[in-house]
This record gives sequence, C-alpha cells and structure tokens, in this order.
Amino acid sequence: MDALTLRRPDDWHLHLRDGAMLAAVLPATAAVMGRAIVMPNLVPPVVTTSQAAAYRARILALLPPGSRFQPLMTAYLTEDSDPDDLAAGHRDGVLTAVKLYPAGATTNSHAGVRDLSRVRRVLERLEALGMPLLVHGEVTTPEVDIFDREAVFLDTVLSPLLAEHTALRVVFEHATTAEAVAFVRAHRDRVGCTVTPQHLLANRNDMLVGGVRPHFYCLPVLKRARHQQALVQAVTSGEPSFFLGTDSAPHPVSAKESACGCAGCYTAPVALQLYAEVFDAHGALEKLEGFASLHGPAFYGLPVNPDRIRLVRGQDVVPSAVAVEGPAAELRPFLAGRALAWRVQAEG
Ligand code: DOR
Ligand code: ZN
Repeated sequence: MDALTLRRPDDWHLHLRDGAMLAAVLPATAAVMGRAIVMPNLVPPVVTTSQAAAYRARILALLPPGSRFQPLMTAYLTEDSDPDDLAAGHRDGVLTAVKLYPAGATTNSHAGVRDLSRVRRVLERLEALGMPLLVHGEVTTPEVDIFDREAVFLDTVLSPLLAEHTALRVVFEHATTAEAVAFVRAHRDRVGCTVTPQHLLANRNDMLVGGVRPHFYCLPVLKRARHQQALVQAVTSGEPSFFLGTDSAPHPVSAKESACGCAGCYTAPVALQLYAEVFDAHGALEKLEGFASLHGPAFYGLPVNPDRIRLVRGQDVVPSAVAVEGPAAELRPFLAGRALAWRVQAEG
C-alpha cells in the first residue's frame, strides 16, 4: 500500500502551552488533526470553567485563517475543584473532560491531587454526567521505582477508584506497560486508553544505550522492549479501547538538553507519520484509521470528522528545529533530522 486515505484524525492528548509557545506549536496540530483534547497543566493550571473558556479563546485566536480545528478543553482537578463549576462547564460545552494529575507526577503537577477521598464529590458528579476522567496513571511515592510507577498505580489507585465509582468513565492516558494494556482490556466497558508515538517506536534502550538522549525522556518514562511490544500489539489489534493521543509536550531545547532535562517529547509535527510507520511495520495499516480517527470519537460520544486526509509513502525528514518567538528560542522535535517514510497530504 503506497497511499492511505483516512477520516481526519484527532489527538486525544495534547499539550499546547500558552503565549509564544502556543503560537509556535498550534499550526502543526491544526494542519492534521480535527480536534484535540488540550491538557490543562499551564502555570497556573486551568482549573475552572472560566479559565478553560479563556484558554480556549487564546487558542482559537491563534489558529491559521480558515482552520476548522477544535480544541476540546479539560479542567485540572485539584482538591478544591468545585463540582458545580465543572458540571456547568460540561453542560455549556466548554469542558470535555477533567484531568487527574497525582501531585508531583509530572510537569506542573504540584497542584494535583494528594488524597483522592478529597475529590469524591467531583468524581460522583462526573459519574452522573458521564464526563470522562483523564488519568495520569503513576504513583508518586518516592519508594516506588520510576519504572514501576504505572503498574503500582493500577493496583493501588485505579482499581479501587473504579470499584468505588462504578459508573466513572476513565481514559488511561499515555499507557506505557503491558499491565496497563491488560487493565484497559479488563475494563473495556468504561476505560479507554491513549498511546503515544514514542512509546510505540522506542523503549528505554533507545533512551539510554550509548548515551542519554534527552529528547526520548518523557513521563511516564519509556519502559522495556516487552512493554513496547504489548503496546504495539494493542493498537494494531483494532480494539476500540485504544486511540491516538500524542502527548506532544514541547519544552525549549535549553530545558531539554540540560543537566536536569524536562520530561516531554515534541511530536506534533510528525506524529501521524510516526504512527503510520508503526502500523506499516506490523502489517496493520488497515487498522490505523480506527486508532487515529474512529475509536476516540466513539469513546467520547462525538461524531467522526467529516473530511479526510491522505498519507502517501515517500521520503521526508523530521524538521531539525521549530522556532519560538522570544526567550524559548527553539524546539527540537522528537527524532529531529531522521528520515520519515510517510507524508501527510491535504485531501482536496
Ligand atoms: O513527559 C511529559 N510531559 N509527561 C507529562 O505527563 C507532562 C508533559 C509536559 O507537560 O511536559
Ligand atoms: Zn501529557
């Protein structure tokens, strides 16, 4: 197969940031994706409906002319979040979902939740509304090894949470382990799962053998090859629980290539091409449309995008840098400078 036409995909997990960084990264996503679930971990975080509405307006104001890209907004769950405010945001079409960051799990997560019993009223409201809870699934207790944080979270946090909130719908974000794949399958009636391009294309050897490669560092951190294989098997199986969520997370080059480098892979300019490579390499190109364009809308109860895009086989290269106005200066995309086997073409 040398070309593939798909329903326009969506990105169900994306960091767009704000200000000059937002202006620099938004066009790449808006060119390919119909919609994106926009993460709320700004500084300060997007906690209330009015903050989400204001953030959405800043995104829409920076869209290229004629773009029909739709940002789908999320609220950052804190122990002080107001269930009535979140319900009103959902009713009024401002909020699509609520994001749970365990406090300390990742970039700008210190305002996150320490004690889940303190957000019980919010979770009960989400259950009643059918509004999804998006979960960064890692425990943050210092005794737990960073490579085990996801699996421990499933056993000690998410299992009891689903048992207590029997109608809660959850998206397990950026799955990185075979345990997560098994968990999602076991709860397929109400748990969906996003998978990033980097967790499909790479494992911890790619990050650490022969030198530390900061552009492979993200959270949850890349795991062993057997986990990578479980993720590839899951997404190429065609099971509707698994859908596209890039977790594209831009940081300035200076913050990545540093003695204490930030977590996050900037994949937005090449994400769909990289997913296509994975599906192609496993003889599953015919399953790409489900993962990229159909399963996510079905989980969220939204229509599939009306238009299509075309992927064609052909040489391309990952850009080596993306400029940002001001002090952030530039971004280095994931796999910068590497050859790409697929190109995205606008469908006329
Ligand atoms: O690697 C990551 N970067 N993981 C996250 O969960 C957050 C993200 C970011 O915002 O930079
Ligand atoms: Zn993320």
